Amino acid sequence: MTYLLALDQGTSSSRSIVFDADGRPLAQAQLELPQSYPQPGWVEHDPIEIWRGQLDTARQALAQAGVAARELAAIGITNQRETALVWDRATGQPVHPAIVWQDRRTEPLCARLREDGLEPLVRERTGLVIDPYFSATKIAWLLEQVPGLRARAERGELAFGTVDSWLLWQLTGGAVHATDVSNASRTMLFDVHRSDWDAELLARLDIPPALLPRVQASSSMFGTARADLLGAPVPITGIAGDQQAALFGQACFAPGMAKNTYGTGCFMLMHTGNRFQASANGLVTTRTAQAAGQAQYALEGSVFVAGAVVQWLRDGLRAISRSADIEALAASVPDAGGVSLVPAFTGLGAPYWKPDARGTLTGMTRGTTLAHIARAALESIGCQSAALLEAMSRDAAAAGAAPLSELRVDGGASVNDLLMQFQADLLGIPVVRPQVAETTALGAAYLAGLATGVWSHEGEIASLWQRERVFEPAWGRDRAAERMAQWERAVRQAVAG
Ligand code: G3P
Repeated sequence: MTYLLALDQGTSSSRSIVFDADGRPLAQAQLELPQSYPQPGWVEHDPIEIWRGQLDTARQALAQAGVAARELAAIGITNQRETALVWDRATGQPVHPAIVWQDRRTEPLCARLREDGLEPLVRERTGLVIDPYFSATKIAWLLEQVPGLRARAERGELAFGTVDSWLLWQLTGGAVHATDVSNASRTMLFDVHRSDWDAELLARLDIPPALLPRVQASSSMFGTARADLLGAPVPITGIAGDQQAALFGQACFAPGMAKNTYGTGCFMLMHTGNRFQASANGLVTTRTAQAAGQAQYALEGSVFVAGAVVQWLRDGLRAISRSADIEALAASVPDAGGVSLVPAFTGLGAPYWKPDARGTLTGMTRGTTLAHIARAALESIGCQSAALLEAMSRDAAAAGAAPLSELRVDGGASVNDLLMQFQADLLGIPVVRPQVAETTALGAAYLAGLATGVWSHEGEIASLWQRERVFEPAWGRDRAAERMAQWERAVRQAVAG
């Protein structure tokens, strides 16, 4: 038998899954990742904790599956994207906590860059918008704020990486400093057309090129995990940012196919083939995970707070004791009773791009209960996703493409039937849940397996994809439009502060 080990380092947890050659998960281990909020709007992770937790889960998953490292064909890595880490090349020690993708501290710098007229260049070269979300301004902040860092970076003593690069560095004992195109395309420093770092953007942000990793195709030989870590040397042959990995794991290989992942945030990606399509409706253009051949692109809409709103209900409001309890609480009322919750805790991402917006609860009456708020929280995930789909449909129509016929879903909150039905009702198209809900990890395993001959082409992977359940839309379009109009009114209030 041949096995693959997928390392899925997400915002809220580190997870490892062992897959067999049919793409079936055999065992998985998971550890929650502690979050640190040193100031309002700041979010940090401890890089050492990321690495140790990931290694622990890898060992646990292998032990549970009864698979030895020498039986692994390869390792695939997938990760929370954009999160910026800088470490010392000689000691491997991080110079600062990781600045997480949700962190808003660089908004003043972003505002300056926008004022300086950099937005068109950023859009054209990287496909992105100027926002604290992406890695570039986080690196610039570190070089500016941490004493001595700029000089060390200029001397070539430091390495920058997203979480994939950090894990690769650790797994290879500091031998490899690399990333893949899908992660590079989220830094705001990568020319997605030429597949290379952009010298002009690096200069404008004053970031020394010596900091940057080598960029490779997502399915290619990155390096070998040291034998002492897992018990045998294992090739690392797949790397992709988690959302592009999920698109791959959902077998969305053709233009017009789309998926939505309900994780900490919500990320909707639609494949657009070999064409770089710029969005006129608040989405960004990004590189897909590349197996072989030509560069491929996707339109992406990123919602910053989705599953995290359930965590907030649990830990902040103490309205539920386990995340899964939200479904029963929300289902105990027929609707949200006119309540809208806009969970703009870290600003609003696509399609609004309002970094200063903050969480807002509207429409409460004397009869409002926790159940209505829980329902509004759940519905906020569906409404934010519907706004993305709306933007995507407009972009697709402008490009002369056919409207989306279905949405494939995955991620933690996709197990919530109430949410999935609400999503289908709002969107007016079927919402399709696959049998393997862990499509992010599966995508990383597929990328690693394609490079090592476990699978020979994407068609073989597409034939392994199977649906578990389809949620058909039940609402009339008027009702859906009314619900979205209520949502948009609440968004305007969140933006107005
Ligand atoms: O862009 C951020 C995204 O990659 C984070 O994904 O699954 O950790 O919420 P997740």
